[in-house]
Amino acid sequence: MSKSFEKQPSGNPAPVSKLYSQYAEQYDAAVQDNVFNAHYERPSLQALIGEVAGCDVLDLGCGTGVYAQYMLDNGAEKLTCIDYSPEMVEIVNRKFSGSFGDRVTCYAQDLSTGLPNEADESMDLVISPLMIHYLEDLTPLFSDIARVLRKGGRFVFSTHHPFADIECSTSGNYFEREIVRDVWDTVGVPVDVQFYRRSLTEIMQAISGSGMVVTGMNEGMVSEAVKAMSADHYAFLSTKPNFIFIACQKPA
Ligand SMILES: C[S@@+](CC[C@H](N)C(=O)[O-])C[C@H]1O[C@@H](n2cnc3c(N)ncnc32)[C@H](O)[C@@H]1O
Repeated sequence: MSKSFEKQPSGNPAPVSKLYSQYAEQYDAAVQDNVFNAHYERPSLQALIGEVAGCDVLDLGCGTGVYAQYMLDNGAEKLTCIDYSPEMVEIVNRKFSGSFGDRVTCYAQDLSTGLPNEADESMDLVISPLMIHYLEDLTPLFSDIARVLRKGGRFVFSTHHPFADIECSTSGNYFEREIVRDVWDTVGVPVDVQFYRRSLTEIMQAISGSGMVVTGMNEGMVSEAVKAMSADHYAFLSTKPNFIFIACQKPA
C-alpha cells in the first residue's frame, strides 16, 4: 500500500481479488523501489525473518514474487508461492521458471480456507507479507500454518498496524473486527481498497490458538533513503506505525 494523504473513498470498491489482478503488472513495477514496500515493509520484515539458507519456504500472498527473489538470493532450498490472483501467479512463474524452475512452485488459491494442498511438517519457514488483512477469519489459515511447519519452524508476517487502521473505522469500536476502506496510490492511480481491521488481541489469539508462540515483533522502521524520496512519507512513517511485523515459532 501507499497511503494517499488527500483522497477519501467514494462509490463501490472493486473486490480485492479483481484489484490485484487488474493492476498486477503495475504493482510489480511499483514495489521494486517505492516507499511503503521497498523502503519500509521489506527491510522491517526481513530484519525479523533472519536465516533462510537451506530452508523450505512457503510464501502466502506472494504477489509478484519480490520475496521469492529475496529467498532465492539468500539460499532458500525450495520455495512454494501462493496467491489467489492468477495474474500475480503468472508473473511469478514467468520470472522464476527458467534458472530457478526446480526450486520454485507457484499456484493460485484463496488462502481464507487454509492450505489444503500442503503436507504436514513440510516447511521450515512460512512468510506472509501484507496479506492477512484480506482474510475475515485468521483461524483456518493460522492453524494450517502450524500444521505445515516442521517442529521449531517459523512463521513471520506483516500486516496493517491496528493503530493505523482505526483511522478508517466507521464503527468506532477498536475491539470489533470490521471491513474498512482506504485509498492507496501504490500503482500510480488512486485505488479504493477494502480490507479487515482487527485488534491486536485478535491477531495474538489467532497465533496462540494455533499452538505457535510469538518470538519477535517490530513496528517498522522507515529507511533513511525515504527522506529524499518524499518528506511527507518520511515524516509520517517515522512518527506513526503503519504496519506491524510479527515472528512466531512452532514449538520444537
Ligand atoms: C499487498 S499484496 C502483497 C504481495 C507481496 N506479499 C508483496 O509483499 O509484494 C497482497 C497480496 O495478497 C493477495 N491476496 C489477497 N487476499 C488473498 C487471499 N484470500 N488468498 C490468497 N491471496 C490473497 C493479493 O492477490 C496480493 O497479491
